[in-house]
Amino acid sequence: MLNAMSAATLPRRVIIDTDPGTDDALAIFLALNSPELKVEALTPVAGNVPLSLTLPNALRLLEIAGRTDIPVAAGADRPLARRLITATYAHGQNGLGGIQFPEPTTKPVAETATQLIRRLVHASPQEIGIIAIGPLTNIATAFREDPELPRLIPNLTIMGGSLSGGNISPAAEFNIYVDPEAAQIVFRSGVPLTMVGLDVTRRAMLREDDIQRMETSKKPEGRAAGKIARASMNQLRKNSATGGPAMHDSLAVGTFINPGVVTLESLFVDIETAGTLTAGETVGYRKAPMRSSPPLTNAPEATLSTEFKPNAKVALDVNVDRFLTMLVDRIAG
Ligand code: RIB
Ligand code: CA
Repeated sequence: MLNAMSAATLPRRVIIDTDPGTDDALAIFLALNSPELKVEALTPVAGNVPLSLTLPNALRLLEIAGRTDIPVAAGADRPLARRLITATYAHGQNGLGGIQFPEPTTKPVAETATQLIRRLVHASPQEIGIIAIGPLTNIATAFREDPELPRLIPNLTIMGGSLSGGNISPAAEFNIYVDPEAAQIVFRSGVPLTMVGLDVTRRAMLREDDIQRMETSKKPEGRAAGKIARASMNQLRKNSATGGPAMHDSLAVGTFINPGVVTLESLFVDIETAGTLTAGETVGYRKAPMRSSPPLTNAPEATLSTEFKPNAKVALDVNVDRFLTMLVDRIAG
């Protein structure tokens, strides 16, 4: 067993579950350029664009960064129980802002995402963290197949959810909206969970200088990030939006690396799955009693937990300058 000191100095081993995705791309480049992390694998999932694009996009990003040593294992091509809703309106038809990068020459491994996750975690209990920056379909599937898994993972940090309103619907953030059932499995699994939601990520917007630093980077992944970020900025301007591209996924990576960039609060968070207007909402409780909705006349009693048992550390504030400096320094070099 590693002692505290050596464990603190060694790179932390991590799997990144992702739906690249313009902001996923920068998050992956950040992780690859962070000495605190050893990226063990990418596990693409359907989300921003279909798996038929998130899979090759994951391969492309590793090739751009010169990291084809990292395996890519294909995950779910649809949510657990719903039709797939994508976000091509935000990420472009190809998922990378319409930027045409070369076709990947590498191939995914034969294992599925859940097979790879389960194999790595069981081979090294309490040593493999997971950063999930897309819908939680792969993670939920792995937990359903292997109920012991949540107890073997030291930290699952997700980009997902919001306690302050959604982005794809008034109530729901995209990753949770796409697969609420998967999110509910993950939030109820007991895994040590850090939730980096829109409460903080919508504030982490790239500035023009940041994009120019990436565009002029000496590093291939820096320049690729600059192209993607510029495409996102142009899309925002076309839609008369102010501000820059929000670094949703990169802030989850940044928080995994250094939780000091955000302010975390322990809450009980559950997921709305029955709402016709609110499915995918992450509902946070700060104390007991934790009420659900009033029961219909002919329905059983409402559930009411009188004991407050937090299940997630939720990011509620962020040091934007400190985070963006970390992000751009590392990607652009
Ligand atoms: O709501 C933002 C999240 O949805 C990010 O992960 C982005 O990539 C999209 O997947
Ligand atoms: Ca994403």
